[in-house]
Amino acid sequence: MVRFGGPWTREKLEILRSYLDDYTTALKYLDFKLIYVDAFAGAGTWRPESPTSYSTAEYGEFRELHEGSPLIALEIDDKPFDEFVFIEKEPERCHSLAELIPKNPGRNINIRNEDANLALSLFCENMGNFDRAVVFLDPFATEVSWYTIDKLARTGKIDCWILFPLSAIARMMPTSHEPSEQLALQLDRIFGGREYWDEPVYHNRDQLSLFKNTLEKERKPGSELIADCYRNRLEEVFVEVAPTSRKLLNSKNSPMFELFFAASNRKGASVAVRIANHILSNW
Ligand SMILES: C[S@@+](CC[C@H](N)C(=O)[O-])C[C@H]1O[C@@H](n2cnc3c(N)ncnc32)[C@H](O)[C@@H]1O
Repeated sequence: MVRFGGPWTREKLEILRSYLDDYTTALKYLDFKLIYVDAFAGAGTWRPESPTSYSTAEYGEFRELHEGSPLIALEIDDKPFDEFVFIEKEPERCHSLAELIPKNPGRNINIRNEDANLALSLFCENMGNFDRAVVFLDPFATEVSWYTIDKLARTGKIDCWILFPLSAIARMMPTSHEPSEQLALQLDRIFGGREYWDEPVYHNRDQLSLFKNTLEKERKPGSELIADCYRNRLEEVFVEVAPTSRKLLNSKNSPMFELFFAASNRKGASVAVRIANHILSNW
C-alpha cells in the first residue's frame, strides 16, 4: 500500500478508468494486441498521505484504502487488455503487485521492477506491428524525462496519459531570477533542452536592472505559462494532443498537476483524442 496524493488522485484515476473503458470498447473488433502500461504502478492500492491534503468535509471519504491504476486497468472487462505491464522501481510495491497475478487468472500481467524511463525505452523498441498501447505516466514528481516522451511518441502505436508535475516544476523556476545551473539541468531533462523552457518562460527584467548592467531575468508568477510550454512540446512530437487538459488542484485550490492526453498513431489519433477530450471536457 502506498501513501500519497489527495482528492486530485481520485479524480485522475476516474478519468483514466473512463478512458480505458471507452478506448478498449472502440478497438474491440480490430485485430490489435492491446497493452496497458502503468509506468509508475505503485502497489495496486493507495491511501491518502495525510489529512492536511483535504478539507475536513472531504477527509472522511478519503480515509479509506483506494484502488490504484493497476487494479482499475485490470477491472476493464468489456474488452480486457491483452497484456498488462506494471513498472515500479520499489521492490516491496512489486511484491504487492505480484499478488494481483493469482487474483486475476486469465490476465497476462508482466511486472517489471525497473526505472520507468529505462523500461519504457525498451518497451518501445520491442513493440510488434500489431501492438497498440495505452501508457499511464503517473509519477510523484519530475521523474519523466523528455527522452522517454519523445520515444513513446515516435512509436506511432502509443496513446499516453501524462501527469505533468506543475507545482514541482514551478518551484524549480524562481519568479525573481533564473534557476541555478543544477535546477536548469533538471529542467533541460524534463523539457528536452534549455530553449524549450528558458526563452518561453523567462524574460528580461525592467529597465532599472538593465541600467545596473545586469542581465537578470524573471518570470510571471503562476504555472499557466509552464503548462503551455509543455503542451507545445507534446504537440511537436505527438500526432495529436487533446485540446482540453485537466488541472488537478489541492484543497487550497493550487494546481498540483496538469493531466495531458496525447496520441501517436496517425490513423487512430483522432478517435483516441476525441474520446479523451470528451471525458476531460465533461469532467
Ligand atoms: C503516484 S505513485 C503511482 C500510483 C499508482 N499509479 C496508483 O494509481 O496507485 C508513483 C509510483 O512511482 C514509483 N516510482 C518513482 N520513481 C520511479 C521510477 N523512476 N521508475 C519507476 N517507478 C517509480 C514510486 O515508487 C510510486 O510507487
